[in-house]
Amino acid sequence: MRKITRVGVFTSGGDAPGMNAAIRAVVRTALHNDKKVTGIYHGYQGMIDNTMFDMESKSVSSIIQKGGTVLKTARCMEFKTAEGRAKAYENVRAAGIDALVAIGGDGTFTGAEIFSREFDIPVMCIPGTIDNDLNGTDLTIGYDTANNTVIEAIDKIRDTAASHNRLFFIEVMGRDSGCIALNAGIAGGAEAILLPEKDTAIDELIEMLAHAADRNKSSMIVIVAEGDKNGGANNVAKRVHEKFGYYDTKVSILGHLQRGGAPSSADRVLATRMGYAAVNELLKGNTRATIGIRGSEMVTTPLEEALSKKELKLNEDLVEIAKIMAL
Ligand code: F6P
Repeated sequence: MRKITRVGVFTSGGDAPGMNAAIRAVVRTALHNDKKVTGIYHGYQGMIDNTMFDMESKSVSSIIQKGGTVLKTARCMEFKTAEGRAKAYENVRAAGIDALVAIGGDGTFTGAEIFSREFDIPVMCIPGTIDNDLNGTDLTIGYDTANNTVIEAIDKIRDTAASHNRLFFIEVMGRDSGCIALNAGIAGGAEAILLPEKDTAIDELIEMLAHAADRNKSSMIVIVAEGDKNGGANNVAKRVHEKFGYYDTKVSILGHLQRGGAPSSADRVLATRMGYAAVNELLKGNTRATIGIRGSEMVTTPLEEALSKKELKLNEDLVEIAKIMAL
């Protein structure tokens, strides 16, 4: 088994609440096992630019409660090229790093898989994205917090919507994934939910809303995932309003506030368990895999497998429940 003396840790892609808790767990678990730790700023970009530093236990003091990522993050185009990766590897080797922990989403996993194979360096990934759209895990770090943020916003909008008898279209994040929209739509009692994974015709949506209006609802809320094929909440609202003038119509786009804020208790514990597991798996000789949670158990899945499956992650039972609850 390969000897590991120094672990490099970084966050990459979109930030997610709980990433700091994962960094903290990686650092402290590695130190507990007498390994050294290097923090890499700005993900793959930091490997190329050589922005790395030694981490101690104190480096991660008082970060578990913070949103964002203290290691910063980036989406790095240069790492997609062979030259960029070669430069990154040179710096990684010069820093004495023998294994990497990558925290992020789909793009992060892809980069880790290629890099690990190309340069034969052990890598363990941790799923961190508010979108909850990764294979190999039931939950990703940040999803729970983002859902709670969205619910708080929906509840507030419901108060004003009901006071004015208004129809609101609330756009939530999810370019390819309807997980937040579906979950928040159910928890926020939405009258309809538009998801990137489903085709909902505008006429079908109007039918749903007309049905709700027949029951004299004082307000209506439609959750629109940003990746819905009708083209976002503004577009949907405009098209619905042209044909369905019953309610005063408003649009609210929640945007990047969904990515910030203190991580929930569930995200802090999940991230801590994942960070701990990632280091232990590397030390056991496991590599090129992602940590995940199935039920309450920590599991690992080879990156190749996690990346090759593109099946729908949406829970169809929830889709059905959401429709029935809106009746
Ligand atoms: O973190 C994932 C995600 O929130 C997507 O739902 C969204 O489309 C994207 O990130 C936005 O990313 P950026 O910060 O690059 O605009």
